[in-house]
Amino acid sequence: MATTRNPFDYGGPVSGASFTGRRDEVAAVVHRLRDHIGVVVTAPRRYGKSSLVKQACAELERQTPRPAVVSVNLLQCGSLSEMSGALLRRLYRVPGGPWTRLKQTLPGFLRRIRIQPSTTFDNQGRPVFTFAPGLGPEDASRVVDDVYQTMHEIGAKRPSVLFFDEFQAIRELHPQLARRLKALADEYGNVSLVLAGSKAHLMESLVLSKGAPLYNMLERLALGPIPVEDWVPFLLRQARSAGKPFAEQDVALEVWNQAQPVPFDIQQLAYESFNQATDTITQAALAQAIDGLIRHEAADYAKTFEKLSAGQRRVLKALAAGPPASVGSAEFATAVELADSTSVRKALKALGELELVVRRADTFAVDDPFFAAWLRGGGF
Ligand SMILES: Nc1ncnc2c1ncn2[C@@H]1O[C@H](COP(=O)(O)OP(=O)(O)OP(=O)(O)O)[C@@H](O)[C@H]1O
Ligand SMILES: [Mg+2]
Repeated sequence: MATTRNPFDYGGPVSGASFTGRRDEVAAVVHRLRDHIGVVVTAPRRYGKSSLVKQACAELERQTPRPAVVSVNLLQCGSLSEMSGALLRRLYRVPGGPWTRLKQTLPGFLRRIRIQPSTTFDNQGRPVFTFAPGLGPEDASRVVDDVYQTMHEIGAKRPSVLFFDEFQAIRELHPQLARRLKALADEYGNVSLVLAGSKAHLMESLVLSKGAPLYNMLERLALGPIPVEDWVPFLLRQARSAGKPFAEQDVALEVWNQAQPVPFDIQQLAYESFNQATDTITQAALAQAIDGLIRHEAADYAKTFEKLSAGQRRVLKALAAGPPASVGSAEFATAVELADSTSVRKALKALGELELVVRRADTFAVDDPFFAAWLRGGGF
């Protein structure tokens, strides 16, 4: 029997059939990009920042004139040499760039770049640009300048999008680049600079707070969870189209309920439930999926848990049990056997820095729903 492809996707950014909801946000980004306006997308990790930009760019691609999109993920760039090489590679692949009209495309392209990379070719014959390790910040800034200027030129006739994903990583890679980008955005108005990032305090200091290098330059889009009204029809449709429907709508609702609010977790649980099911996705398949996910991670959960102080463990377990009335109250401190609310606050801060606990809807919660289930089940 042919195996059906699992229709749920929790790898990297999703778009098209794997994307649900966020209609207003996508439309807002598409409009901004058409109008050469910059955008900064912020959200906690795995909320769908990269997916939103991907989906907006995909929609823009279907319009005329076709946009030019250059995107780099800064977390995937270990050095400025890598970042600069990636920028040039993506720029060169922009369809209809001014160099494509020249007889000698590659030299025509390279003439625009003051710091020359070495060029090799991949197995499809496409150029790959590399800079020797150790490219310094000034040279990297020149590469960014040249890319930006070229995109400005392209942007005279069509949308031109320069997307830095995981922008918070610029802090370590090139501390002055945010300032440089501000100057470029001031000078070259035909480019939409798009930034996305998850570490709230780093994004604040780079883009959002007064005195930040890119303050007030970009339109801010802060993503919240995707509502259940968008999830349930999506889950039902995906499962049905792959030939293994949910046994009842309530099972899809329960997938959402067990994994929400992070989109990554919802798609992951749907993926595992689909795998566990035979003909239809039943409550039993869902229960097996949760069990499987917890068992798979149990060793890591135990290791993480063991490293915490006794007080931190008690706070974590209390949060896993359900939203507390008020973590700042004396009752909560007593319940978790800590001296006072100052000790609770300290424990929460440490758990937050470890990304185990997040702030959600004015309270605190264990970030990973399967870790929370493991804690409730007393797996330690
Ligand atoms: N609109 C969406 N519809 C359906 N699933 C989504 C959506 N947005 C995100 N997801 C799910 O969440 C996962 C993570 O999405 P994405 O990589 O876009 O998040 P992110 O916020 O950029 O994460 P990170 O903080 O790791 O960069 C996707 O692989 C997908 O499973
Ligand atoms: Mg991302």
